[in-house]
Amino acid sequence: MKVLKVTGNQKLTGSIRISGAKNSSVALIPATLLTNGVTTLCNVPDISDIDVLEKTLEYLNVSVKRASGSLLIDTKNLENKAIPEELSNKLRASYYFMAVLLARFKHVEMYFPGGCQIGSRPIDQTLKAFKLLGATIEEKDCLFVMDAKELKGAKIDLDMPSVGATINSIMVSVLAKGKTKITNAAKEPEITDLAIMLNKMGAKIKGAGTSTIEIEGVEELTGTNHDIIPDRIEAGTYTIIGALLGDYLKVDNIVPEHIKALTDKLEEMGANIDIHSDYLIIDNQNKLIKTDIATHEYPGFPTDLQQPFTTLLTQASGESHVEENIYENRFMNVLYLNKMGANIHQEGKKLTISGPTKLKGTKVEATDLRAGASLLIAALVADSNTEIKNIEHILRGYEQIVEKLTNVGAKIEIKEI
Ligand code: EPU
Repeated sequence: MKVLKVTGNQKLTGSIRISGAKNSSVALIPATLLTNGVTTLCNVPDISDIDVLEKTLEYLNVSVKRASGSLLIDTKNLENKAIPEELSNKLRASYYFMAVLLARFKHVEMYFPGGCQIGSRPIDQTLKAFKLLGATIEEKDCLFVMDAKELKGAKIDLDMPSVGATINSIMVSVLAKGKTKITNAAKEPEITDLAIMLNKMGAKIKGAGTSTIEIEGVEELTGTNHDIIPDRIEAGTYTIIGALLGDYLKVDNIVPEHIKALTDKLEEMGANIDIHSDYLIIDNQNKLIKTDIATHEYPGFPTDLQQPFTTLLTQASGESHVEENIYENRFMNVLYLNKMGANIHQEGKKLTISGPTKLKGTKVEATDLRAGASLLIAALVADSNTEIKNIEHILRGYEQIVEKLTNVGAKIEIKEI
């Protein structure tokens, strides 16, 4: 079993370069299957979620060439096959294959998608959108069988601005006949990134990044070249680390607007942060004071930074509050933070954090990706050694995390035990 061993309380100085966005990549890779040709994606992070997608593409007879951050994907021999459950249950984003295979072949068979266990994570909004666009759907033992005689543009009013359902609706409607209007759409930057790539491929999408997206279907799409946007959650995670341990730590290759909800909060807490056009510098010179956050859809405070930010709040003076509004089970880091010396009280979807408290190293377990990031941050702050189990969760989403942190002065290594 692999564990992360961390010796805490080291000052971090130098520069960390942010990789391409996981949640863009996992949508853009399946989206290349909407074309019958070759697409090159640049800035693809080297994380295990991408390995699973690569295996899925190969299973569908798509040729993939991977070289230092880029993927060259040739779909000319694409075959429509039922994706085995052991691939689809590895990550949530596998259900983007439902959309692209439905759009291309009007028939798809796929199992319920996987993903971090952070709540119930239903897919009803995606299924509703597919039905409105003309698909019939049968479900048996978590296997979905979808068929459509014809896919036709529709009005899709989402019950909540779901990222996945917005992406799936776009991916089917770009090749459907006529016009589609998605209202109450999600506005996350990853959706804009997808629309930009699809428009380069010949799609006609307007309004991505707002809550109303309009799409005029086209006959076919062609391959293109596309640079994936920087990962705003990775950027946010290292910025939080910088506020705790940075000695003029540079977080490079960011889009400041994408992490504004975080940097606004850090400034309010008194952090010393200097934001430039595509990087920021942060240090831990200033004492941090309490604050409250409530997670919301973009541009609100991102749920994916809630757990890392909770660790930061254990080091702020006063009583802070966290409200998690997106997932019902995203507090599994709290048990371990308290074991390390934090003073966090949970009541339903709310946390009360009294700080600052000294954190001490111990044995902890990453239960999901961002819980893992939260514990890693705690381990970096702690005044003794920490061992983190189940680090596969962390490696799903953070490229070269050990190397990036070691380069700026952290004492951290992966050990086989
Ligand atoms: N929801 C429904 N029905 C649906 C879809 C969503 O009830 O059909 C609910 C979910 O249960 C959840 C909320 O709506 O409570 C938001 O879900 P959404 O569909 O927006 O999330 P997602 O597409 O499954 C993506 C990211 C998540 C990120 C969320 C919210 C990917 C692969 N995943 O998930 O990323 O938390 O958007 O921003 O893009 C992560 O990176 O750690 C992560 C979990």
